[in-house]
Formats: sequence, structure tokens, C-alpha cells
Amino acid sequence: MAARTEEFYEGDRDTVLSAAGLGETMQEVLARRWSRRGMLRHGTGAALVLTLGQGGLRSAAAQDATPLAGAAVGGLDFEPITLDAGDNLVVAPGHTAVPFLRWGDPIMADAPDWDIDAQSATAQERQFGYNCDWIAYFPLPQGSDSSDHGLLVVNHEYTNPELMFPGYLTRNPEYTAAPDSDDAPPDVPEFLINTSQEIVDTELAAHGLSIVEVLRDESGQWVVVRDSALNRRLTGTTPMEITGPAAGHDLLQTSDDPTGTRVLGTLNNCAGGTSPWGTALTGEENSQQYFANLAALPEDDPVRAVHDRFGYGEEASERQWEQFHDRFDLAKQPNEPFRFHWIVEFDPYDPTSTPKKRTALGRVKHEGATTAIAPGGQVALYSGDDERFEYAYKFVTAGSYDPADRAANLDLLDEGTLYVARFNDDGSGDWLPLVHGEGPLTEENGFTSQAEVLVKTRLAADALGATKMDRPEDFETNPVTGKVYLVCTNNNQRTLEQADAANPRPNNLAGHIVEITEDNDDHAATSFTWDLFIIAGDATDSGTWYGGVDAGLVSPLAAPDNLTFDNDGNIWISTDGMANNLPGNDGLFAARTEGEERGRTLQFFSTVPGAECSGPIFNPDNSALWVSVQHPGEGGTLDQPVSRWPDGDQAPRPSVVLITSENGMARIGRRG
Ligand code: FEO
Ligand code: CA
Ligand code: CA
Ligand code: CA
Repeated sequence: MAARTEEFYEGDRDTVLSAAGLGETMQEVLARRWSRRGMLRHGTGAALVLTLGQGGLRSAAAQDATPLAGAAVGGLDFEPITLDAGDNLVVAPGHTAVPFLRWGDPIMADAPDWDIDAQSATAQERQFGYNCDWIAYFPLPQGSDSSDHGLLVVNHEYTNPELMFPGYLTRNPEYTAAPDSDDAPPDVPEFLINTSQEIVDTELAAHGLSIVEVLRDESGQWVVVRDSALNRRLTGTTPMEITGPAAGHDLLQTSDDPTGTRVLGTLNNCAGGTSPWGTALTGEENSQQYFANLAALPEDDPVRAVHDRFGYGEEASERQWEQFHDRFDLAKQPNEPFRFHWIVEFDPYDPTSTPKKRTALGRVKHEGATTAIAPGGQVALYSGDDERFEYAYKFVTAGSYDPADRAANLDLLDEGTLYVARFNDDGSGDWLPLVHGEGPLTEENGFTSQAEVLVKTRLAADALGATKMDRPEDFETNPVTGKVYLVCTNNNQRTLEQADAANPRPNNLAGHIVEITEDNDDHAATSFTWDLFIIAGDATDSGTWYGGVDAGLVSPLAAPDNLTFDNDGNIWISTDGMANNLPGNDGLFAARTEGEERGRTLQFFSTVPGAECSGPIFNPDNSALWVSVQHPGEGGTLDQPVSRWPDGDQAPRPSVVLITSENGMARIGRRG
């Protein structure tokens, strides 16, 4: 057995650090916390910090564990698969997984078939976009709970032009080192980029979202209704409205839009959510990558200080969009970035509706947007800011949801209070209000209005002393228990000194999931308790936590990203970055959230090399599951592919995959 490499101690952080060498393993501490959990009024009282190192301490229980086979875990009943690194989909026995919507598939009656050698913006605007991520299912007809007819709404996060356009990359004749050589001079790129107006415009058209009508036909097959009047593409150029407290603010005005209320397109839509009134909410995440030339702004320009926090490029961008569209050039349009990084709401049932960027929800690298109704009728919206050491947010509407009056709900998200989370070491937590004039959010600290608090959300959250998290990605609410789950995907830059109870692992390569219980189960509450649900990674590593279940009974995962829940409150976790941690492609895992098997993950699905798994969503009766296989083959090129999925051709194609039971309409993840 390897020497113990992690030490933990219960108490405050200073005690933890001074007690190095006296501690227990994380598994021991969490097991003890869990066993007495029912007795604690305010959840847990332990603070945990791991010292550096991911050594291979293996518990005696793990060594003796029986293998995973035929696991029947509460409401889950499927035989888990194991980590797989092949260039093909793998799904649990008794299920089928097939590509359902591929990049380029025509989704309008007049759309051309996909042809890699005949791409254009005009074609792409009528075809399924690139890099599918979040997926939502909206039942049809509107207001029903139909499980065999609906709209799929799909985010298209970004483009991989090197995998889309033949000839986009050419070898640099001045690059004389061996391919991928460590000896290569840093200023001589191995490849040169050949782009054009048509390529850039096609990329813009491949971003945004697809809205696609789908149904299960009389033979039981799911089909795309290609000529549906509801089918729609939103792209990087679709006109959108800016609403809420920051609409029209000086910082949102550009020479193209002096009103600060109209913007072209949505970009880098990562995850999202749905509102109780049947609209889609999509998060604009890493929009900074489309902008260039921050260096043109003077060092003392206050605009620059805000941009710096988002990582805009100082010089030309790799995508080179600024060569063809001035608005992506900060030297020409320094305010255009303020019109991105918002949550966008739109009505998928009305293909003529104008999407709205809701500024009341704050401006960060929004991973997603998850809603829940409070007992008082207010609607809470949770969203993570996916970057290392950034924050977790919640918005609570001022008004109340009226189930009988959809029109009255449509602008609820323009007025309310935005909060940021502080996770206290004793297992309690506070939602800190980001309200102009309260606490440090005053003019003398650089916040002259609520609009400015919202445009500078990250800086306002800094001022309030919120908890810096390990890349907060998806937030989802368990529909059975009301508990809220926050995924922290990883953070390889957290040091031991920076570890805290909610982010206990330095060099957190594999990520963890935090479970939040709002006080009085009220999503409008301003305080909560929290716990660690899982700490991911190799389950035989003592620095992980899968509910205390024997390692041999767990399907290990790493880099959790998106979540969804089935009708029994089981959590389904998709991953983005497994291959950096564990020997397998990204995939989908399921686990119970309560009871003895809580936290025992079972692998259900595996994607292909280079891909992340994202956007899992069930239809209402859980007889169909859609999941995105995003950026298959990333890391390769068209000439040197690492994946040829799904067609076996030269270009891999990001696709939404449909998973059904081989037993007709049986629920996913159930035998029989
Ligand atoms: Fe777009 Fe945070 O993943
Ligand atoms: Ca993604
Ligand atoms: Ca994500
Ligand atoms: Ca991710």
C-alpha cells in the first residue's frame, strides 16, 4: 500500500493547515459526516482540506470490493459500462444510442444537404449548427406534457474551423521542428490559418442555437420534422434585444447601436435552462475569444479594467473575425464585449419572437441558467461563472410567477435581486445581494448604478467577499428533493493555501459536486446549508468521495460538467475532460442522491475521442434521452484526425445522440 498522501482534519482552515500529519483521509471524514448527517440541524460542520498530491492510497474496502455487474441501485437498474477509449459510442446494455442531429443536417425544408466542400453561411443558417451543447425538450402542443412530440432547443457553443473547412490549416514552411516538438521556437506556429469572409460568416451561422421539432412516429421511431414552421436557427448575427437595468447604459452603446439595446447574435452558448413559463434560457460563456486588440485601449481606460477580468486578447484573435467584422475589434468597438456574457431568454414556441439578453441576471461567463419556483411564487435562477476562482450566482425575481397568465411572466427576469454565494466552512452559506448602494457597491468603489454593478458583476462579487470556486459549471435542481447541485469541474491552479471547505482539493484535476439545501427549502432564501456530494477522480484514491461506497462498486468519473435528473431524482452527470484524468472518453454517469447508494456513480454512456459529453435531457416520461457529443476529434485536424465519428468520413461531426431502451418505451436506465 502506498504511503498516505492526503491529510484531513476537522475544524477551521487554520486548524486544518496546522494539523497536517494528524489528519484522516477525506473518505474517513466524509463517511463520519454522512453517518451523523441526520442529527445536524445545519448540515455539516466539517472543513476539509487535502494536501497536494493524488497518490494511490487504496482503502482495504476497495481492494476487497466485488466487481460492478448488474447493479440495481434504487431507481436505477442497468449494467454499467466501463471506461472506453474507442471511436464509437458505448451505452449500457438494453439501450441504443444513435446520432440524431448532426452538424450540417438540414432542419428546414429549403436547406441543402450538408456538403463539406459546399459550405456557406446561407446553407448553415438552415442546417444544424456546430458543437451542440445544452439541450432542452419543450413539449408540443405547448402547455402539454407530451413525451412523444416536442421541440429540441440546442446550444451551439463554438466552432472548430480546423475540423470544418478543408484547407483551413496549412503547414508553416518556416516551421522546421518535428511536428508537436518541444524544441519548436514559440513564435513560429506549426500551422498557418487560411480564413476568409465566407468562412467567418459560416462560423457565425454555425454558432447560436437550433430549435427543431421532433416526434415519435407510429412505428415508435423518433424523427426530425424538417419542414416544421417552428424550426429556427438563432446565430451569431440574429438581432436581439438587451433588457433590464443595464439596457441602454453608456457601456453598452456602440456606433452601430447608439441606443445600447440592440445587438447582433449570441455567442458561446454553453449550458442553459428553461423557465416555468416555457421559455429557453441560454448562457453566453467564453465570448471573449471572438474579440481582438485589447492592447489598443489605454492602460488607464476604465473599460480596460473590466475587460481584463474576462481575458480578451491583446492582439489579433486566432479566429481573425475582426478582419471581417469591425465589432470584434476592440480598437474600433471597445464596448461591443459588454453586449455579451449575458443570459438570453427566448420563446421557442414563437419563431418570430426576438431573443432578449436579460441584464438583471448579471454579466459573467455564464455556464447555464436553472430555474426553480419559491414557495412565495418568486422564481430563482441559478448560474455558475465557469472560470477558475469565479463565483456561483442566484437571481430571485421581484414579481411572482402566475401559472394562469403566461404573458405576465415573460419579462419577470428583468426585475429582481442578483446574489452571489458565500460557502462558509461550517457548512452554512449566504446569498450576498449585488445591489447598488448596499455595502461596498457604492460610487466611491466604482459602482455608480445598478447597471454598472451588473456590467461589472465579477468585480462586485469580489467586493462582497464571495467564495471563489473551482470553475462553477452546471447548476441543476433535483425535482424530487428540491436540493440544488453545483458542478465544479476542476481547478488545477488552486493551492493548499487557497483550499477551503467547499473547494477542498488543491490541484483539483477531477472536480467535485456541491449540494445546496436552501433554508426552509425556499429558493428565495438568502441562506443555505451545503455538503459535498461527490469528489471525482479515481475511486481508489483516498482523495475522492463517492458517498463512501466501495471503490469497486463505483464507475469513476472526472471533470463533471452538465447535470440532469430523472423522475426519481437520480442525478445524471456528463463529463468534459475525462481523458486528462482517467483512461476513457467523456461520458454520462448516473447516481442516487439519497439513501445508502447516494453518490455511487454508474457509467451509462461513453463518447468518442476528443469529444465532451454535454446537455443530457430526458423527455417527460424518461423514455428518451438526448445527449450532445460535442467537439468529437478535437485535438486533431482533418488531415490527422483523432475521430471520424459519426460517419467514418474525414470530418467528425458534433451531434446530438438519441438514447432509447431496446424495450420499446421503457424508461432509460431500467431493465425489463
Ligand atoms: Fe462551456 Fe463551461 O463549458
Ligand atoms: Ca461545452
Ligand atoms: Ca459546459
Ligand atoms: Ca466544461
